[in-house]
Amino acid sequence: MPLLHVQDLVLSFSGLKVIQGLNFSVAQGSIASLIGPNGAGKTSVFNCLTGFYRPDSGSIRFAERSILRKKPHTITRQGMARTFQNLRLFKSMTVEENVMSGLHCRTHAGALAAIFQTPGQRREEARVHRISQECLDFVGILDKKDWVAANLPYGDQRRVEWARALATKPKLLLLDEPAAGLNHNEKIELIELIRRIRDELDITILLIEHDMGLVMKVSENITVIDYGQKIAEGSADQIQNDPKVIEAYLGREDDEEA
Ligand SMILES: Nc1ncnc2c1ncn2[C@@H]1O[C@H](COP(=O)(O)OP(=O)(O)OP(=O)(O)O)[C@@H](O)[C@H]1O
Ligand SMILES: [Mg+2]
Repeated sequence: MPLLHVQDLVLSFSGLKVIQGLNFSVAQGSIASLIGPNGAGKTSVFNCLTGFYRPDSGSIRFAERSILRKKPHTITRQGMARTFQNLRLFKSMTVEENVMSGLHCRTHAGALAAIFQTPGQRREEARVHRISQECLDFVGILDKKDWVAANLPYGDQRRVEWARALATKPKLLLLDEPAAGLNHNEKIELIELIRRIRDELDITILLIEHDMGLVMKVSENITVIDYGQKIAEGSADQIQNDPKVIEAYLGREDDEEA
């Protein structure tokens, strides 16, 4: 059984189909990529998976349960985490507070406990700090935990996002263009990090990425979509030599020149 299984997924905006009967799956324990030209529908797929968009029809099964049209926080609780194409940090909060914000879906203490600071609440606080700091350590920025997020260099702001996603202890991590804006060395570190997340934390990874060098190096399976439909699927070698894939990318470049 795949960890994630998407079948006949359809999504439209004002009658315009953005995802048109998409089928793909992600094997448990794999590093997979979802690629395609600009506007192909990749981020929309992530938004359907995480409950930000409501698909018209189709099925999405995650860890053997249907998550179709479930609320984002429910899906997070079931073990899916994501990062965004554009950074979504709380700029005026510290690095650690940003990571802790990712844990709210997992904290159990209620409002009353928060007011009265029960022992349970204090234990919960300690747990949240511990997990946040472990995740910051994992992505290599624990020494900056008290920095205000806005003051971090861009590459480190990305790391805060990854730590925040990891803090929810996901089974599946969705990364939307994690290499965007990173320099050469940071991209090499990203490849390393993606592998460590899978190997050491046993988290399955699905990434959207335009940097083909990175995609080809890190992915064990690649799904290519164009106009909301799958046009190819396979290993890096298979994808690179697939005429449909080449045409989708080159065709789109011609459009841009026109
Ligand atoms: N909320 C929305 N309302 C209307 N149209 C939308 C919405 N979200 C996405 N779209 C449209 O869906 C199509 C796919 O967009 P999407 O952002 O999923 O593409 P993408 O593959 O992630 O592109 P990119 O590589 O540029 O990030 C685009 O035509 C976009 O305009
Ligand atoms: Mg996108």
